[in-house]
Amino acid sequence: MSNTCLEFRNLTLGYQGHAAVHHLSGGVQRGSLTAVVGANGSGKSTLLKGIAGILKPISGACVPGFRRLAYLAQQSELDRTFPARVIDLVSLGYWQKRGLLGRLTAADKIRLSTCLDAVGLTGFEKRPLDSLSGGQMQRALFARTMLQDADLILLDEPFNAVDARTIADLIVVIKGWVAEGRTVLCVLHDYVLVRDHFPETLLIARKPVAWGATSDVMTSENLRKARSFQEAWDEEAGWCEDDAGREGQTCGHDHHTHLPRQHKIAGHV
Ligand SMILES: Nc1ncnc2c1ncn2[C@@H]1O[C@H](COP(=O)(O)OP(=O)(O)OP(=O)(O)O)[C@@H](O)[C@H]1O
Ligand SMILES: [Mg+2]
Repeated sequence: MSNTCLEFRNLTLGYQGHAAVHHLSGGVQRGSLTAVVGANGSGKSTLLKGIAGILKPISGACVPGFRRLAYLAQQSELDRTFPARVIDLVSLGYWQKRGLLGRLTAADKIRLSTCLDAVGLTGFEKRPLDSLSGGQMQRALFARTMLQDADLILLDEPFNAVDARTIADLIVVIKGWVAEGRTVLCVLHDYVLVRDHFPETLLIARKPVAWGATSDVMTSENLRKARSFQEAWDEEAGWCEDDAGREGQTCGHDHHTHLPRQHKIAGHV
C-alpha cells in the first residue's frame, strides 16, 4: 500500500466559475496530522469539501488513497433544530457500515457506549440535540466520527466556540486516531494549538502559501505572505486562463516545496 493517503494534482476548486482554492499540488502522508490554516475566506472549507467529493474540481484532481473518509463540517453549516437525540446523531456513524435502517448489533451498541464515554457524554444518550451546549455538540460529533472507522478524517474548525477543557479532551481523541494510523486534516484558527499539537501545516490564501513541518510553515514571513495574497485576491476573478477547458492539465511546479510556480489568474491582481 502506498504511503500517500491523498494526493492533490494541480487542484483548483471553486464556485460558479470563480476559483476559491487555486493550483494545489502535493501529498498527504498516511498517519499524518495536518493543520489547515488561513484567513477567513482563504479556501479551507472549500478544500475539505473538494477532498470529501462534495465539490468537483474545476481542474486538476484530488486522488484518494484512503479506504473510508469521515468529514466533520464547520459547525455553522449544521442544523441543530432537527428533532433528534444524541444517540441518533452518534449512531449515524454506523451509516456506511449498516445502512440507514440497519439494526445495530450488540457489539455495535457496546462500541457506541465506549465512544460516548471517550468523549465524556455517558448519560447524554437521550438528550435532544437542541439542548446541548456547543462543546457537548462537538463531543457528540467526535463520537459519531469515531464510529465511522475512517482512515482519513477531515475536521473543519472543530474547536470553534469550545472551551479549553473540551479542546484538550478532543485533542486527545485526535491524537488517538493518529496513533491508530489514521490520517487527520484539521482546519484551525488558533496558532498556539497548531504549533503545540500539529506536526504538519498547510497554509493557504486561496492558493498554497507553504506546506510542511509546522515550524517551517508558521513563520512570520509566510504569515505575512498569506495576508498579502489574501488582500490582493479578486473575489470576481475567474479560474486560471491556462486551465479553461483543460481538466487535469498540470503547470510548472517546484518539486521541492510542492508549491506552484508563478501562475496567471484572470483578473487577479
Ligand atoms: N457555496 C458557495 N458559493 C459561492 N462561493 C462560495 C461558496 N462557499 C464558499 N464560497 C466562497 O469561496 C471562498 C472560500 O470560502 P471558504 O468557505 O472555503 O473559506 P474558509 O477559508 O473556510 O473561511 P472561514 O475561515 O471563514 O471558514 C470565499 O470567498 C467564499 O465566499
Ligand atoms: Mg471555513
